Amino acid sequence: MTQNISRRDFIKVTTGIVGGLIGLAIGLPIVAYLLSPSLRTSEDNSTIDLGPLEKFPVGIPTKFEFTRTKVNGWERTATNYGLYVVRRINNEVRVFSDICTHLGCRVSWHPNQEHYISPCHDGHFDLLGNVVSGPPPRPLDEFVTHIENGNLIVSLPPFKRNN
Ligand code: FES
Repeated sequence: MTQNISRRDFIKVTTGIVGGLIGLAIGLPIVAYLLSPSLRTSEDNSTIDLGPLEKFPVGIPTKFEFTRTKVNGWERTATNYGLYVVRRINNEVRVFSDICTHLGCRVSWHPNQEHYISPCHDGHFDLLGNVVSGPPPRPLDEFVTHIENGNLIVSLPPFKRNN
């Protein structure tokens, strides 16, 4: 037994199906776009590999800069890190932040004075980041490090040291 449908019904059904498909084609990407940030996880910014420890000269602070981006839902935060790697004779390594502990200016190493100097208010720090003179209230912040397969691994973020 065959059932005939009217031309009007056929057009209604076809229009409904085509309309639904167009709605899905437009709506799904929008829904995916709206939901995707909440499903995204933060970038793992807990460590950074600075490469072979051997490449850092002994007793001379070596500057290293990098940017890490953290995604948290809709929020995207880029943080610029600057650090100094100080390798000692016995392969002990210390890594200091280049952010002055006074008001946050970037310090730079001055080999002739053997100090890190903050250009803003003339804060001075020694090779191991201890305050020598000026207004900084505490030593340069330091990073936890470890050696993995001969490479220097730095954990973020740096920690505050006491005087
Ligand atoms: S910001 Fe470094 S001494 Fe003031």
